[in-house]
Amino acid sequence: MKNVDKNSLENAYRLFDSNDIDKIEIGTTKGLKQIHNYLFSGLYDFAGKVRTLNISKGGFRFANALYLNEILVKIEQMPETSFEEIIAKYVEMNIAHPFMEGNGRTMRIWLDMILKARLIKMVNWQLVDKSLYLQAMERSPINDLELRTLLQSNLTEEVNNREVIFKGIEQSYYYEGYTKEDDDE
Ligand SMILES: Nc1ncnc2c1ncn2[C@@H]1O[C@H](COP(=O)(O)OP(=O)(O)O)[C@@H](O)[C@H]1O
Ligand SMILES: [Mg+2]
Repeated sequence: MKNVDKNSLENAYRLFDSNDIDKIEIGTTKGLKQIHNYLFSGLYDFAGKVRTLNISKGGFRFANALYLNEILVKIEQMPETSFEEIIAKYVEMNIAHPFMEGNGRTMRIWLDMILKARLIKMVNWQLVDKSLYLQAMERSPINDLELRTLLQSNLTEEVNNREVIFKGIEQSYYYEGYTKEDDDE
């Protein structure tokens, strides 16, 4: 694991261990930027900053940088009263992909904070298979049923369980190709 990712993982642990997570705005663009800044401050010069360049992944073009700020205003206004609405909001935020890097890791924490506040639930990420999840995310701009089904069947009510949270963070980094095991790089 590269130093930047190792440091970022440590920042993610600290976000929860310090209870700083409780100071972060829920369901807003500001809250998302706060999480991104927390994870990547001092590691990326764009920590907490919305991108100004266009990016794509696997042939999918994320929101045009020219309209990104307006789009983010709309997304944060989306309702979050039911599981379906929360997933729809998460999917739109993924389509926006506001940062140059670190969107996946930042947004999964952002999603969990909405689920916790609204439904007293969280995704038990350690039970969510990597390839099924990434496949569902790729599919989600067209149809979010696959993602909804996958996450719905892996919700937990243990929203304050440190082990569940920390294993979930490790899984989130693993989705993006970072594992503690290959630490020597
Ligand atoms: N083809 C795709 N279409 C839509 N979303 C995608 C696609 N590929 C990856 N994603 C989403 O983007 C995330 C990765 O974004 P990225 O900014 O690289 O975050 P990180 O740096 O945390 O890995 C994945 O976790 C997944 O949720
Ligand atoms: Mg990445």
